[in-house]
Order: sequence, then C-alpha cells, then structure tokens
Amino acid sequence: MSRSARSSRSRNASPLRTTFGNPSYTVSNMSVADELHPVLHAGRVAVITGAASGLGKAAAKELAKLGLKIAIADIDEEKLGVIGQELIELIGAQNVLIMPTDVSKLDQVVKLKEKVYDTWGEVAVLMNNAGIGLKGTSWEGTENWQKVFDVNLFGVVNVQHTFLMIHQENQAMIINTGSKQGITNPPGNAAYNASKAAVKILTENLAHELRERPESNVTAHLFVPGWTWTGLTGDDGVKSKPDGAWTPEETVLYMLDKVREGEFYVLVPDNETKREVDQLRIMWGAGDVAEGRPALSRWHKDYKPLFEEFMREGLAALDV
Ligand SMILES: NC(=O)c1ccc[n+]([C@@H]2O[C@H](COP(=O)([O-])OP(=O)(O)OC[C@H]3O[C@@H](n4cnc5c(N)ncnc54)[C@H](O)[C@@H]3O)[C@@H](O)[C@H]2O)c1
Repeated sequence: MSRSARSSRSRNASPLRTTFGNPSYTVSNMSVADELHPVLHAGRVAVITGAASGLGKAAAKELAKLGLKIAIADIDEEKLGVIGQELIELIGAQNVLIMPTDVSKLDQVVKLKEKVYDTWGEVAVLMNNAGIGLKGTSWEGTENWQKVFDVNLFGVVNVQHTFLMIHQENQAMIINTGSKQGITNPPGNAAYNASKAAVKILTENLAHELRERPESNVTAHLFVPGWTWTGLTGDDGVKSKPDGAWTPEETVLYMLDKVREGEFYVLVPDNETKREVDQLRIMWGAGDVAEGRPALSRWHKDYKPLFEEFMREGLAALDV
C-alpha cells in the first residue's frame, strides 16, 4: 500500500458512513395501489425501444399483461416481428404497433412518434431501453465510441426530445435504462460506461426539470439493471443462464414495482450482488472524488485492502 493510502486511513476506510434506510426521492402522487396506478394501467400506451430482445422484450410482455397497448421499436426487424406476433396473441393486433426503428436516427424516431399518436393519441410509458455494448477503451475504438454514443446516449436524447409528453393531460412516465457501469465505472469498456454515465446525468436533469414545471404530469426514472441474462450479456438462445444473473422478467418485474412506488433510482440486484453491496460500491466511488483518492481506487492495488475493509465494515453495520 502506498504511504498516502496508509497514512491517515488505516482504520475507518471512509468517513462516509452508511446511513441507508432513507428511500430515494419518491414521487408522492404515484404511490398508489396497483389497480389504481394512473400510468401502469390497462388501456394506456407504452412505447419501448430495444424491444426485440432481453429487457425491452420482457418489459413489452409484462406491460401487455397489465393491459397496456404496446408499441415496440427496434433496429432488428426480424426479432421485432417475432415478439410482435407474441404480443398480438396476448392482447390483439389493434393493441400492438411493430415499428422497426433505429433510435440513433432522429427522422425514424419522429415517424415512430407520429404513428403512435396517430393510432392511440397518447403515451403513458416511454421506455428508452435500446443499447449496445461495443468496446471502446481510452485510446482505442474511435468508431465504436461514436456508435455507442449514437445509440446509448443520442438514441435516448432523440426519443426523449421527440416524445416528451408534457403536452398531455394524463400522467406519464419516462424510464431510461442506465447501468451500474455508468455509476461505479468498472474498468474495461470506457465507451459504454461513459455513455451510461451520460444517461444518468440526462435522466437526473430530466427528473428535475419535470419536477420544476408545475403543469408537468410526467415523471422520470433511471432504470439500473443488475446482471441480467440477455443478448448483451451472452444469451444466444443456446447457452444457459449463469446462476448469478437474473432473467429479464425478474429484472423488469422488480423495476415495475419500484417505478410503481415512484422511485427515481431503480437499482436492481441480481443473484450475485445484493442491494447493500451496490450501495457501498457507489459510496466508495463517490468517495474517490470527495476524499481525493486515485481514479477508480477500487481497482488500485494499493487501495484494495482499504476498499475491502470498507465493504466488510459497511456490510457489518448494515447487518448483512
Ligand atoms: N443485460 C444486462 O445485464 C444489462 C445491465 C445493465 C444495463 N443494461 C441495458 O439494458 C438495455 C437493454 O439491453 P439488454 O440487456 O436487454 O440487451 P439486448 O441486446 O438483449 O437488447 C438490446 C436491444 O436493443 C436493440 N438496439 C440496438 N441498437 C439499436 C438502435 N440503434 N435502435 C433501436 N434498437 C436498437 C437491439 O437490437 C436489441 O434488441 C441496454 O440499454 C443495456 O445497456 C443491460
């Protein structure tokens, strides 16, 4: 361990104490019984991007089961057709729109919006979920950086700017899919992490701006999935799900419960990572900045023992 790491902080790994228990900001008028929920409600409309696979597909099905009309958008036309057919069998063709869309192309997003409003006249749930994980490290993969930002960030910006439902009378919600990688920033794919950090910032600002508009009936939510077995994480339809991962259905059902309760930060656990572990990792990451430790100190050999101590003490304090 380096001298600076050892000097003042051999005990009490961080002055940041773990006082969890306070819920994150909740939107008070959204926390009502399931059947009375104004947004996640039969007859209303959901638009989901990245809906041909994984989390988007699971969200489309779960929202359809609640009786919402569903517009599914994805760049993968073939898979979109398959899930579209499943939805039609579930809720009928008049309640499903199958919209091949590249979210990184503004004109295609505008067409998606026009079609949804021409058909159903409103949007209750806007789920910005399309995402890719192409690799771009700190000095390699410029083209991938561009593509990842075009989809993961500008896809969200395009959809959010085009749809923003503040003109509607009915309540609505925007759910943007972020990532733990955009919060704790594990080394390995700087492009993906940076794009998801940007989604976090964008969604936090959206939530604030909506809250500050008295006439706004729209809430924003940052969906932060745990490890979920999808196309992005290796599900090719052949390999079986690793024990540590949740299924897309599990992750989506957890997310729906939390947005139903009005939570902004929907931090989802998995079979490997408990909520408390995530909370402590997030606090450690923030502590890098506040306490002047080296960047990504969690992965710095000199700080590893300190980080481990912080986790041990934190989990013990939380009685986990
Ligand atoms: N699976 C996880 O463990 C995990 C964890 C954290 C965050 N996420 C995020 O969840 C979201 C959904 O991913 P997933 O895990 O279900 O992966 P997935 O690959 O199964 O689904 C992503 C979908 O997005 C679509 N897509 C890609 N580019 C698009 C574009 N330009 N326009 C429209 N659609 C496009 C893909 O065709 C695909 O159907 C992503 O934003 C991802 O970053 C996933």
